[in-house]
Amino acid sequence: MTQACIPIITIDGPSASGKGTVATRVAHALGWHVLDSGALYRAAALVVMEQGIDVQNRQAVAAAARTMSLRFQPENLTLDGRDVSAAIRQEAIGNLASHIAQQAPLRAVLLDVQRAFHRAPGLVADGRDMGTVIFPDAPLKIFLQASVAARASRRYKQLKQQGLAAKMESLVEDMQLRDQRDQQRLIKAPDAKVVDSSDLTVEETVHVVLGHWSTQGGCYVRGLTTCCG
Ligand code: DC
Repeated sequence: MTQACIPIITIDGPSASGKGTVATRVAHALGWHVLDSGALYRAAALVVMEQGIDVQNRQAVAAAARTMSLRFQPENLTLDGRDVSAAIRQEAIGNLASHIAQQAPLRAVLLDVQRAFHRAPGLVADGRDMGTVIFPDAPLKIFLQASVAARASRRYKQLKQQGLAAKMESLVEDMQLRDQRDQQRLIKAPDAKVVDSSDLTVEETVHVVLGHWSTQGGCYVRGLTTCCG
């Protein structure tokens, strides 16, 4: 399914488990590309909200996502030429993203968009279904988990830093609700390595992930070929 000998590390985990930051740092350390798949669902949610699309109309939601022109730049994401990096991080957009992410037509539209990120020299992809649905034959799969309390407190700090309003109690509640909705798609691949980041710093988590990759010597078997790189 995935192209031979272009390595992929998938990092799946719940909301605010730190997977985005960890994925970016791991990709940087290896000199690889990075895919923040949640940003695609968030961008779709922003379009749905701004265009006043009926969220129950699955075909309309998928059609709107199909016409999105997204560009990932190192520091920001543009949607039809507009910088939406901050707009997609709003809690309301995250919640809407979690709703529409349940819709099969939208997931089908985003499937190819996500696979197109698989390019040399390698890819670190973070999300919910990276290791199970999008890149099921990735040579290293990480399942990053953290307690609800740790995740809510990280999200709180993040929002405060961005000068956005945040209440700890409602963040915990939102996080639990979102976990319930995302639960169906967030399935640990049988061959994934579980990393619990509740008590780890970002640097420590990155170190653990890179440790798993170097344990494999950067090598893996793809069909009849042994890939190293
Ligand atoms: O990782 P995140 O919080 O930025 O993702 C936003 C929402 O998108 C999340 O609630 C679930 C959904 N999502 C998904 O269903 N599948 C993915 N691969 C990534 C995100």
